[in-house]
Amino acid sequence: MAAAGTYRLRPASRPTQMPLRPIPTRLLPILAALAAIVLAASGCGTTTADVNRGRTLFVQKCGVCHEMAQAGTSAQIGPNLDDAFAAAREVGETGSTIEGIVKAQVENPRPSTDAANVSMPADVVSGQDLDDVAAYVGMYAGVPGAEPPRVAGGPGAQVFASNGCGGCHTLAAAGSGGVTGPNLDEVLPGQSAATINQSIVDPNAKIAKGYPANVMPANFGESLTPKELEALVEYLIESASKGGGNTASGAKGG
Ligand code: HEC
Ligand code: HEC
Repeated sequence: MAAAGTYRLRPASRPTQMPLRPIPTRLLPILAALAAIVLAASGCGTTTADVNRGRTLFVQKCGVCHEMAQAGTSAQIGPNLDDAFAAAREVGETGSTIEGIVKAQVENPRPSTDAANVSMPADVVSGQDLDDVAAYVGMYAGVPGAEPPRVAGGPGAQVFASNGCGGCHTLAAAGSGGVTGPNLDEVLPGQSAATINQSIVDPNAKIAKGYPANVMPANFGESLTPKELEALVEYLIESASKGGGNTASGAKGG
């Protein structure tokens, strides 16, 4: 039994239901300390964090390694952040507590090792960027049913927005500015649907010059339905023909 006054992370007993993933043990002291700080600060805490900006930054900077439903990211290098915070939400932790944990993690991840799955680089974002990202994660990580926002532009635009493509790729039509992969406005004009399709489902089949292999997720062939994939390729061809500058004879019919 937890003693009175102890900050309890999980109820001592709970009705039988879905097993919950515990909060990682190494986060417990941070969590307890932060709860106090957050409570103390909440009076003057009208935060200036911009959650929408935080989402964009998250997709670009964190989504390269972390899955999170609301962000539409699916990378598996670090832990799934919905899983990481679902239990905390379930026992009533507030977004601001989670926000604090995220800040602590970004500022002080444990030392890197040779194993990529335990090595998070320090200070991926800082300052206002960190405030915004932390507020975003605090708002959505582990929230049941969270999903990416609806976007205009049809089903292909939605697939692009919901799968983190824009975090790594620039595409004017989608308003995205990722730079981890090639600028799609520049490289797509003139490419056939079959080529684009292969780039998406089998990114390592042909590595774009000057870019690293094994960075673009290789599982879109499984995670997207054939219909989604088709809509996505169509959308890319359409977008590239208007956005990329090469409007002469680049767009192929399909
Ligand atoms: C290069 C890959 C990489 C990037 C980029 C990255 N992370 Fe991580 N992250 C990891 C790994 C690996 C771990 C597990 C580290 C550990 O256990 O020490 C982790 C752990 C975490 C955890 C703790 C989760 C838990 O269950 O313990 C949080 C929170 C987190 N990251 C948030 C972020 C945020 C926010 C960003 C962007 C600002 C980010 N990460 C960027 C790889 C990354
Ligand atoms: C984590 C970063 C990342 C994500 C997410 C990502 N990509 Fe990529 N993508 C890359 C990188 C890096 C390359 C270049 C290396 C290669 O060819 O595999 C690339 C290459 C491509 C290419 C080939 C470009 C060329 O030069 O012909 C296309 C098309 C593409 N991506 C589309 C997408 C689409 C669509 C999505 C979302 C479903 C997506 N990517 C998600 C990083 C990413």
